[in-house]
Amino acid sequence: MGFETRRAAFLIVMWTSQLLPPSASCRMASPRIVTSPLGEKRFQFDSSENHIVLYHEKGTPSVYVGAVGMLYYYNFENSTNYAVSFGTEGTLSSCRKRKDAKNYLTLLEKYEGKLLICGTNACNPTCWNWVDGKKEPGINAQGLAPFGLDQNDLVLIDGKDIYSTIKKHQYNGRIPRFRRIRGSAELYTSDTVMNKPQFVKAAVIKQNEAYNDKIYYFFREENPEWPKNAAAPTSVSRVAQLCKGDQGGSGSLSGAKWTTFLKATLLCVDSATDRHFNRLQDVFIVEAADWPETRVYGLFLNEWGYAAVCVYTVGDIDKVFRTSPLKGYNGQLPTVRPGQCQEGEQLTPPETFKVADSHPEVAHKVKQDAILFHSKHRYQQIGVHQVQVADKNTYTVLYLATDKGTIHKVAVLPMGTMNVLEIQPFRSFADIRSMTLDNERNELYVASVSEVVQLPMAMCGAYKDNCESCMLARDPSCGWINGKCTSVYDHGNGTLLQALTHDVFLDVCASSNHGSTKGDYTEPCKNITVVPSSRYYLNCSIESHHANYTWLHHNRNIAHCGSGHRHCIHFIGNMTDELYGTYSCISQEDSFNQTLVTECLINPFEETTTTLFRAWATKASFSFWLGLFHMIVVLLLIQ
Ligand SMILES: *[C@@H]1O[C@H](CO)[C@@H](O)[C@H](O)[C@H]1NC(C)=O
Ligand SMILES: *[C@@H]1O[C@H](CO)[C@@H](O)[C@H](O)[C@H]1NC(C)=O
Ligand SMILES: *[C@@H]1O[C@H](CO)[C@@H](O)[C@H](O)[C@H]1NC(C)=O
Ligand SMILES: *[C@@H]1O[C@H](CO)[C@@H](O)[C@H](O)[C@H]1NC(C)=O
Ligand SMILES: *[C@@H]1O[C@H](CO)[C@@H](O)[C@H](O)[C@H]1NC(C)=O
Ligand SMILES: *[C@@H]1O[C@H](CO)[C@@H](O)[C@H](O)[C@H]1NC(C)=O
Ligand SMILES: *[C@@H]1O[C@H](CO)[C@@H](O)[C@H](O)[C@H]1NC(C)=O
Repeated sequence: MGFETRRAAFLIVMWTSQLLPPSASCRMASPRIVTSPLGEKRFQFDSSENHIVLYHEKGTPSVYVGAVGMLYYYNFENSTNYAVSFGTEGTLSSCRKRKDAKNYLTLLEKYEGKLLICGTNACNPTCWNWVDGKKEPGINAQGLAPFGLDQNDLVLIDGKDIYSTIKKHQYNGRIPRFRRIRGSAELYTSDTVMNKPQFVKAAVIKQNEAYNDKIYYFFREENPEWPKNAAAPTSVSRVAQLCKGDQGGSGSLSGAKWTTFLKATLLCVDSATDRHFNRLQDVFIVEAADWPETRVYGLFLNEWGYAAVCVYTVGDIDKVFRTSPLKGYNGQLPTVRPGQCQEGEQLTPPETFKVADSHPEVAHKVKQDAILFHSKHRYQQIGVHQVQVADKNTYTVLYLATDKGTIHKVAVLPMGTMNVLEIQPFRSFADIRSMTLDNERNELYVASVSEVVQLPMAMCGAYKDNCESCMLARDPSCGWINGKCTSVYDHGNGTLLQALTHDVFLDVCASSNHGSTKGDYTEPCKNITVVPSSRYYLNCSIESHHANYTWLHHNRNIAHCGSGHRHCIHFIGNMTDELYGTYSCISQEDSFNQTLVTECLINPFEETTTTLFRAWATKASFSFWLGLFHMIVVLLLIQ
């Protein structure tokens, strides 16, 4: 197995469509296309794995990958790596289907200081501890690993407590539940509070008083209003709340049930166009020191597969649960409100539980604090990173995994949301199976079925090493210093030049002395011999979809390419005398012009050959003349 840092094998490809701003005033994306060393490192699995889970502990340089009967470890810093077989163990398989009779590793997490590894173990869920590179027996796997692969598994570990949506018995318990399976006493959700839920994400949010600490989980479920109301969406997105300190009810029927469950609809609507995004796809939570400021980034899709990102604050979610009436409940609310956490050893009173259990949904919906954008891309996963830039302000950067095996880096800037880069992390086209952010190391870990890649969050090498390109990229993680487009993580001391707040590109490069090329950046003329009457085409690669590209011939505009082209091409069908000379391809973005290519088309017979040769020239092929020149050179050498 090889450890590789194939720096050049990394591709940043072109952008195909732009982000639509939720409101009118928003600058469009300006992604770049580059093939250059950007600092990525990669490991290839021994074989292609059709199922993987990725575990990365923040701040470490390594990842663990759980696959089918296999555990991989990769250290990106010192290239230590290993693969260990994790085959089925113990009693013979109790699987009905043969494809299940394998050990699918489904959970890799730190629990009580050890790496906990759980797998299906041929329909006999089992957990192990991974200690000093060795397998040790682990805790009871009931609820920690499923009996076979299941798309609806969610496990949340918080200190000693473990919460899970995995069913505990193979052939019963078809109604999904959200349980506390370890730590404090076991609890589960009533079977009537959710309608065929698909779980998306769960998180613990600590409040100021410990008894108020909450678990929020996000899910989709079938809309009870559909098909009664044919216009209603078939499924709705929800957030549910539970008190961490919930101790269950006092009656025999409610003793092991959560008594603080409430759910609310999560709305993601572009009010300008009244477009609704109903299908919650992924959630990323950015914690704040002050809990109400903690932000929930929800990635949604609509019925056509278009994506939108909506942001909610935990303060807003909490307020809806605390203040909203219950849907369909008209009676007087009990003294202890449904959803209210109890202090100390107190249990939720039975009358409160009764009301909450029969009316689990609150009437008010959770509205987004902001919709960042919507886009034609069918994004699958979201990661959010806060970047402190040179002027000490903090910017939000989103990493969105597409369904085409690429990642879009999207910056939330004062003038709007902008797609700054499209990253193709794998050597060959492959789906992104897993993506994890490490905001201590400022790296991204991405896995496909055949490899796992560590990518720096700042890939400033993608923006040509000239000041204007570096500024125009508007990537918060990059700035200009010492003649290079440099990562803010490498030079976080305020000396970097950035232009993130300007709507129209201001010539910050020219007005400062940052080793800038001051816009007079030109490529040397490439001499190209073109035979008269032959064909030739001029090709200029499009780097930014935010720029215009123009081919000039002796400063006369001969071809213009807007966005949507991959290459700006000018075709010469029949080379004639007046078509020789200097051609240059100029990109224009805001007020910044840049010459990308200069080609000097030269007639091979014009200066170097005599009139006699010229008479033949139009009839003879170029290769003939090449051959003749070659012979002349050889003859001269012999003499
Ligand atoms: C690589 O680093 C890991 C910890 O980060 C350490 O356990 C391992 O021994 C190191 N291997 C080598 C070859 O240095
Ligand atoms: C600030 O950046 C400059 C330029 O790269 C570097 O020489 C200097 O050491 C940095 N200072 C600090 C305190 O990091
Ligand atoms: C191209 O040819 C011209 C003369 O025809 C010469 O001055 C120039 O240096 C050449 N450029 C390159 C890059 O070879
Ligand atoms: C190219 O143009 C020349 C001059 O106009 C003409 O004589 C010749 O037939 C043309 N060749 C082709 C292939 O069209
Ligand atoms: C233009 O150049 C790019 C890269 O330089 C290349 O991928 C593309 O195939 C070229 N287009 C044509 C039509 O030759
Ligand atoms: C590109 O060209 C069009 C038409 O010439 C113009 O309206 C537009 O502003 C240009 N865009 C840029 C970024 O220069
Ligand atoms: C940039 O190029 C365009 C034509 O491509 C021209 O109209 C404009 O004046 C140029 N701008 C600058 C600042 O040179």
